[in-house]
Amino acid sequence: MPCKVIVGGFWGDEGKGKIISYLALKDKLDVCVRTGSVNAAHTVWYKGKRYALHMVPAAFLHEKCRLLISAGANVHVAKFLEEVDTTNVKNRIGVDSQASIIEEKHSNQDKTSAHLKGLGTTGWGVGPAIEERVRRTAKIAKDIPELQPYITDVATEANNAINAGKKVLLEGTQGLMLSLFFGTYPYVTGRDTSASAICSEAGVGPTKVDDVLVVFKAFMTRVGTGPMPGELTKEEASKRGWFETAAGTGRERRSAPFNFELAKKAVMVNGATQAALTKLDALYPECKSIREQDKLPKEAKQFINEIEQHTGIPVVLIGTGPEALDIIDRRK
Ligand code: IMP
Ligand code: MG
Repeated sequence: MPCKVIVGGFWGDEGKGKIISYLALKDKLDVCVRTGSVNAAHTVWYKGKRYALHMVPAAFLHEKCRLLISAGANVHVAKFLEEVDTTNVKNRIGVDSQASIIEEKHSNQDKTSAHLKGLGTTGWGVGPAIEERVRRTAKIAKDIPELQPYITDVATEANNAINAGKKVLLEGTQGLMLSLFFGTYPYVTGRDTSASAICSEAGVGPTKVDDVLVVFKAFMTRVGTGPMPGELTKEEASKRGWFETAAGTGRERRSAPFNFELAKKAVMVNGATQAALTKLDALYPECKSIREQDKLPKEAKQFINEIEQHTGIPVVLIGTGPEALDIIDRRK
């Protein structure tokens, strides 16, 4: 894998953070590039400790991994500095000089706009910050004194690493159904979330990518408003053990069973070559923390087969618990 892109297949919160942290440790990633913004929280559990990352790339667990925030990303300076501190990555994180800055006013605009409130935005201000970028009045990272020690050229660093045969991961945020172009418009986020857009935000051309890995959760969840096929009542979701609250905002997540048609579309638009499936233990509790495929119950194997049949791509990683290493790795 010199260059892999990781994207979400549904409405975000598929467990990308967990998959990325596993790959960071297992494959010893050299470089991880974060895209998107502070609205997306990636949860990482390691040795009993939980991290909900809004800015720092989820590969930080591997201590030799260079961490980068791309030119297409939006940086929340206070959150960035706080997370650099809690993850202790000061000496190995960089921010592209042209990444946009999210300010307090953007969050205020997000929270006070009746239209955006109706969409159930996260309130972080990402939509209004992107509007400013499009108007070409936004501040960028090179304008901010606190970011000076971190300023770099992410596209150059990422491409140099790829050309040198190093392992580079481009970390997507949210999921295809929240894409400004391909999602459930207008109930979407302010940007495209597909693999091509992740490459564009990072400054890596499509010919440089070897694999696109799409992450699906064993059931679907969604925060905010907008359609969701097969949605369950909160009572039914709780009964099935699917009820979740959001890592970033604490809001209740809506849930629905896995949808094969949506998964197929996510594979198509992302050009995905591989899939990861997380939270299999929520469907089949006997799977909890299993790391060997042979130990999976028959129904779980059937479900994975069905996903592969419908999407036409292999499910290479299966999450069976929250810890970074709770994974069945079928790549060998
Ligand atoms: P915004 O991205 O804050 O503008 O919110 C637009 C929609 O995307 C809302 O429905 C949010 O709940 C949803 N959304 C944004 N970021 C995430 C995420 O990281 N996970 C899940 N949903 C998200
Ligand atoms: Mg999340």
